[in-house]
Amino acid sequence: MFALPLRDNAGLEPLEIWHAEEFAGHLERAREHIRPWVGPGFVTDDLDGARATLRRYAERQAADGARLYGIRLDGALVGGVMFTDFSAASGSCEIGCWLEPAAEGHGLVTQACRALLDWAFTCRGLHRAEWHCRSDNDRSSAVAKRLGMTLEGVRRESWPYAGARHDKQIWAILAPEWRAEKQAGFFGE
Ligand SMILES: CC(C)(COP(=O)(O)OP(=O)(O)OC[C@H]1O[C@@H](n2cnc3c(N)ncnc32)[C@H](O)[C@@H]1OP(=O)(O)O)[C@@H](O)C(=O)NCCC(=O)NCCS
Repeated sequence: MFALPLRDNAGLEPLEIWHAEEFAGHLERAREHIRPWVGPGFVTDDLDGARATLRRYAERQAADGARLYGIRLDGALVGGVMFTDFSAASGSCEIGCWLEPAAEGHGLVTQACRALLDWAFTCRGLHRAEWHCRSDNDRSSAVAKRLGMTLEGVRRESWPYAGARHDKQIWAILAPEWRAEKQAGFFGE
């Protein structure tokens, strides 16, 4: 197994089909916390559902598309980050994230997303990375802001959830902006 250290007791690792039981257990702790804020297909209810999510990401990664990574804190799976979309052909990607409640407030997702952005822009030569969130998801838009993203617009009432329609924010950062962020030592953290 290989992992990218985020700090002494935390790291980022690929999340693969063989993690299905562990992922299902983690979702038990995270499900109700993340349900209003992530795509409905990600919030599964049992082991088969968890395995199907991991399989879907594995298949898309095999085609150089979406990718999924787990965040571990003291060895336990507590959340993750992903490329919900990744296109080398168009030079753009979209990043997503989630945490179980106990792992919030430590900067883990911001740090993990920086690793994804750096790989996309530096290793893969992408030009644009997007972040989509419900407009009332303050913790998520705070991450986008910490990453140096710009709020480009709002898709009005484009996020149906629980019988209501919510606005969705589109944030993005471009490759030259990312390089400037890095040079500035992630100024604004
Ligand atoms: C969105 C979500 C992942 C954000 O989690 P988070 O813990 O707020 O984000 P980070 O891991 O970047 O941590 C930032 C927090 O840690 C604090 N922090 C501590 N050390 C830090 C560090 N070294 N760097 C950055 N932040 C740090 C920050 O001050 C901030 O806390 P605050 O909001 O109380 O000020 C989480 O709220 C979540 O899972 N929500 C439900 C699912 C969801 O919304 N997913 C996104 C869909 S678009």
